[in-house]
Amino acid sequence: MRIFILKANRAITSGDINLKDLPGSCGRLDLVCRCVSSAFFLSHDLRRDTIFYSIHCGDPNPPIALKFIGSQLKRVSPDERSIAIFIKKALENKPYPLWRESTSGIYYAKKGFKEIILEMLKEGKKIYLLDMDGRPIEHVLNPENYREIKERGIVFILGDHIGLNKEDEEFLDEIGVERISISPLELHGNHCITIVHNVLDKLEHSIK
Ligand SMILES: C[S@@+](CC[C@H](N)C(=O)[O-])C[C@H]1O[C@@H](n2cnc3c(N)ncnc32)[C@H](O)[C@@H]1O
Repeated sequence: MRIFILKANRAITSGDINLKDLPGSCGRLDLVCRCVSSAFFLSHDLRRDTIFYSIHCGDPNPPIALKFIGSQLKRVSPDERSIAIFIKKALENKPYPLWRESTSGIYYAKKGFKEIILEMLKEGKKIYLLDMDGRPIEHVLNPENYREIKERGIVFILGDHIGLNKEDEEFLDEIGVERISISPLELHGNHCITIVHNVLDKLEHSIK
């Protein structure tokens, strides 16, 4: 399983979403939607081996986590507006500590960044932070170790336009999360997801 976790520092935490103003009044919800699109959509198909979390930390009720499960998604299409409509439906519900399904494959809960990461850690998943200054991904994941890491489940954490704060980074360091880089340049989060998928697709092919 491939898992991506986006910390969306300003993303709105209510269903009061203006579909015509995703970047402004919705706290860069456009960016969240693009990450969802890159996480799941192939040409005429969906990545069913992927789960995407966005942790919304904007007003008025932070934090709220959304979980998208590729194998269960239905009716969503790759464009930002379609994805935003499904996010709006999820955020119109009152969130509880446990996950509840909003529409097929899309869940919401009153959970924060650390809680979600600790859940992954407890489940034994291998967790990486996507960071331009980390070790190059091709040095960290290779055909020799990929099968074992894949069996555990691989988690990639990424930041939004603001990035992670010092407290988040210290927390990730404390629990031993490794930083990996996919380029010497600073990229958009959704482009990072596409590149990570591409690296993993090629590794899959190499171990067949
Ligand atoms: C637009 S960038 C964030 C920029 C923000 N100013 C910062 O300092 O983090 C969004 C996220 O993409 C990931 N990212 C961007 N470039 C990367 C790279 N070259 N290698 C790995 N991850 C990268 C990081 O997780 C980053 O938080």
